[in-house]
Parts: sequence; C-alpha cells; structure tokens
Amino acid sequence: VPENIRSMLDAHELLKKFYHHLLVNTAEGQHALEYLLNRGFSKESIEKFQIGYSLPSWDFAANLLKKRGFEQDVMEKSGLVIKKERDGTYFDRFRDRIMFPIFDHQGSTIAFSGRSLGADEPKYLNSPETAIFNKSKILYNFSRARPSIRKQQQAVLFEGFADVIAADRSGVENGVATMGTSLTDEHISILKRNVESVIICYDSDNAGIEAAYRAATALGEAGCTVKVAVMPEGLDPDDYIRRHGDDKFKKDVIGSSLTLMSFKMLYFRRGKNLQNEGDRLQYIEEVLAEIARLEKAVEKDLYLRQLAGEFSLSLDALSQQVKEVQSPPS
Ligand code: GTP
Ligand code: MN
Ligand code: MN
Ligand code: MN
Ligand code: MN
Repeated sequence: VPENIRSMLDAHELLKKFYHHLLVNTAEGQHALEYLLNRGFSKESIEKFQIGYSLPSWDFAANLLKKRGFEQDVMEKSGLVIKKERDGTYFDRFRDRIMFPIFDHQGSTIAFSGRSLGADEPKYLNSPETAIFNKSKILYNFSRARPSIRKQQQAVLFEGFADVIAADRSGVENGVATMGTSLTDEHISILKRNVESVIICYDSDNAGIEAAYRAATALGEAGCTVKVAVMPEGLDPDDYIRRHGDDKFKKDVIGSSLTLMSFKMLYFRRGKNLQNEGDRLQYIEEVLAEIARLEKAVEKDLYLRQLAGEFSLSLDALSQQVKEVQSPPS
C-alpha cells in the first residue's frame, strides 16, 4: 500500500474513533446523541455503525491530525481538511455534524458523510472523491451486510444510511445503500457477484419512486431477480419503521415486495385516471410493451390474462398486440 494511501486510511480510522468518542462520552456531544436517540437510533446501532459527532470547530481535526504527524497536504487530498487559499492554513471540512463513517467493502473507513443537526444545508455533507473513496463503487454497509446477503442470497437496496440502520435494527441485516447517487454499473456488478435477488426499498416520494423504477429496470436488464418493496406515500423506510414497528416492516414491506412487473404496473398507473379512456389505453400499451419484453412464455401468459381480466379485453386481441410490439408489421 503506497504511503499516502496508508496515511489517509489511518487518518480516517483515527477520526472515526474520535468522532464516536465525542458523541457517546462527552458533554459536547450530548445534544447530538439526544438528537439520534430521539430519532429512534439505538445505542446498539450507534456502536455497530460507529456513528460520531464533529465539533462546531474550524480546526479540531486539522490540529489533531497535524499533532499526530499526518502531512497536511495529504490530509487535504483525503478530504478531511480544506486549504484556505488566502493564508495556506487548513480547516475542517466536517463541523457540527452527525458523522457516519463510510467503510469500504473490507471494513476500512474511507470517507464520512456528515448530517446536519438542524436545517443547515446541505443535509448530508459527503467526503469528496479521493484516492481511497469512489462513491460509484461503494455500497454503504456492504462489509457488515455481506454474510447475511450471502446467506439469504438476497440484498435489500435502500436510498439512505438512516434507512439501512433502521432496517438493521428491525432485523433486516442484508441492507445496503448507495451514497446519494443513482445506482451505477459498478454497484450492479457488486450485487450480481454476491446475490441472485435484490429488493429495492426506496423512499415513497416522487424522487424515490422514479429512482426505484430506474434501479429496478437496470437490475432487471443485468439479469437480477428484482423485487420492489412499497410503502404508503410519503414515508421512507426509517419513518415507516418508527411509525409501524419492526414486524410490520418485515412482513408488510419487505415480505410483501412486488415482482418487477407488478411494480411497473403500479408505476405506470401513477398520475393516470384509468376511468379516462385515453389514460386507460396508454396504460394498456405501456404494460403490453413490458409484457412483450418478458422472456418466459408462462410469465407472458400470466400478465396478459391479468390485464385482459382487469379491463375486460379479449386475450386474443392482447396477444396479437404483444406480437406486433415484438415484431412490428412492416
Ligand atoms: P434523513 O433525513 O436523515 O432521514 O435522511 P434520509 O436518508 O431520509 O435522506 P434523503 O431521503 O433525503 O436522501 C437519501 C440519501 O441521499 C441520503 O442518505 C444521502 O446519501 C443522500 N443525500 C440526501 N441529502 C443530501 C445532500 O444534501 N447532499 C448529498 N451529497 N447527499 C444527500
Ligand atoms: Mn463505542
Ligand atoms: Mn429520499
Ligand atoms: Mn429518506
Ligand atoms: Mn429519512
């Protein structure tokens, strides 16, 4: 391991311990700890995920790292401190935030995401891309979740850290999340190497539903078995667990997740009034286009029958149209 990389990793390890200590053992961290406990984070989760707190100081980390002999320009490249152009001094990137260490897939700390305690923007401040942190290749919690993912041959994909942590507390230990980006090809290939099936459990708001549709489509095209867990409009998994409890989350959300086709049907219905003829026709065409893409004849038949039944259409007409979608008449 090159010296600079070693040093960046060591600095992250050191700060992870300090931030965690500040959160759980000090008066300065008391309000941050209360914030987390009020939000439903358990003491166990705080330990497990090594959550911390960064002081509202401009130079706590900069001074600590300097005192411990870390080169300042290397620390700047690690993203932990920022150089002031004016006088060449360094200040802390993370101040007065709840600190979530980001672990690589072997479990080393390679970055942080800091959540503001109040309404400060941005809500989450991430480490920049560095020699040790590439967020398009990292799934949050993958190192901890791996044994459970392998054992169940299934991973649950969430939008945020808070959701992964809440789900873990509820007993869903195979959860991972992207770092605020959409799902990349690298993420998909990591999942594919480890599991056959993925449950997408994104926030139930517009952004989350659109992102779930894109992620589900991409995973499906990559050959994963995809399911999508849906929740009442407006909630995210963390909200849901707090409101309805662990058992309901496991049973009514994760355990009742929809097949890819059923989710797509639900998705195509959004914003449509199926009493309206134009909307209804559009919906039927969108679903037929999806059915045409299915590989298994049995699946095709199943969904065609479902659609025919739902709209009192003749199965013959629908089957004919599917054939036309597949090989348009010239
Ligand atoms: P809480 O509000 O703490 O419950 O977080 P959340 O996970 O519900 O956040 P949200 O649904 O808004 O966002 C999901 C994920 O997107 C977060 O976990 C972050 O990774 C990312 N994200 C959200 N807000 C920001 C932001 O302001 N900046 C960046 N870089 N990422 C963000
Ligand atoms: Mn501890
Ligand atoms: Mn969201
Ligand atoms: Mn959310
Ligand atoms: Mn949330």
